Amino acid sequence: MGPDEMGNATGMGYTGAKSVLLLSLLHGFLFLIAGSGTDAPTDSTTVDISSRRFRAEFLQEWQGSADAPYFDPSTPRNITGLVGHPVRLLCRVKNLRNRTVSWVRHRDIHLLTVGRYTYTSDQRFEAQHKPRSEEWALRIRSPQRRDSGQYECQISTTPPVGHAVFLNIVEPETTISSGAELFIQAGSTINLTCTVRHTPEPPTSITWTHVDQVINFDSARGGISLVTEKGMKSTSRLLVQRARGSDAGLYTCGPNNAPSAATRVHVLSGEHPAAMQQGCAKSSLEKATAIFCCILVFYVLCKPYEVMQFGT
Ligand SMILES: *[C@@H]1O[C@H](CO)[C@@H](O)[C@H](O)[C@H]1NC(C)=O
Ligand SMILES: *[C@@H]1O[C@H](CO)[C@@H](O)[C@H](O)[C@H]1NC(C)=O
Ligand SMILES: *[C@@H]1O[C@H](CO)[C@@H](O)[C@H](O)[C@H]1NC(C)=O
Repeated sequence: MGPDEMGNATGMGYTGAKSVLLLSLLHGFLFLIAGSGTDAPTDSTTVDISSRRFRAEFLQEWQGSADAPYFDPSTPRNITGLVGHPVRLLCRVKNLRNRTVSWVRHRDIHLLTVGRYTYTSDQRFEAQHKPRSEEWALRIRSPQRRDSGQYECQISTTPPVGHAVFLNIVEPETTISSGAELFIQAGSTINLTCTVRHTPEPPTSITWTHVDQVINFDSARGGISLVTEKGMKSTSRLLVQRARGSDAGLYTCGPNNAPSAATRVHVLSGEHPAAMQQGCAKSSLEKATAIFCCILVFYVLCKPYEVMQFGT
């Protein structure tokens, strides 16, 4: 029995103003979980009318019983887990009494657990419940990306009531700010930020390599700096000052506990930016536009001239 509002409500009796208050509370609560309204009614007349309607429509079946089970509002609705790391979906139920709690997977309406028993043959799933506790958990031992999706904790009332929980299974991920390629003018700074997400703990190391050579501060190159920040999301920023031709090539960022990411740097010598050999889609579009403009200008300029010539 919960020590909170429902516990108090049981001692109230079911007549007069107290009854209306109790029913309004219940109604307000169900209204919220149904998600069909944003606010519980505030006006006292509205409360009265809606609670009467509520009593007529729903409470008949319960014989005015205040022991209807309900989900503790603190039950999480959105859980994020890591691929391969055990995850628990939690359901907190008050006033359960002789009813049972089941976990159902929405994707295929698959019954996973019933009470303390695991129903599915998938060995990764397990029902968890401590006797006399209000928590009914579904544990997934080694979750995969495909386990992401909606799950529902159901109470065996007639009709059953459910609480949806969204499970999001993520994988360690590494990205570099520049994307696959970076074009930079000679003499400017190469600025690459590597971001590592969804690792069980922050990476102990993030190693940068340039054309298969590990980059370190004491290299003969000089002008290199690295700033690493570790946390839920870890970043490592590589700055290479005064870029020159020899700085071009593939840069790789390799965290110890997540996949590597790479970017190809192209250093353009100042005088010939058009000598860019890659990223052709963009440059040829620009060339085509330039040629089209030239033709247009030529046509516009030469037309009157022709007319003049032949006109005289
Ligand atoms: C659940 O949480 C994740 C990460 O915290 C978020 O990206 C996602 O949009 C959330 N989903 C829902 C349905 O709230
Ligand atoms: C729970 O007990 C009530 C009587 O107190 C009974 O009518 C009902 O069928 C029982 N429900 C279940 C699921 O056993
Ligand atoms: C490097 O780029 C980031 C944004 O991607 C920016 O915040 C930062 O100031 C840049 N650093 C330098 C030295 O240019």
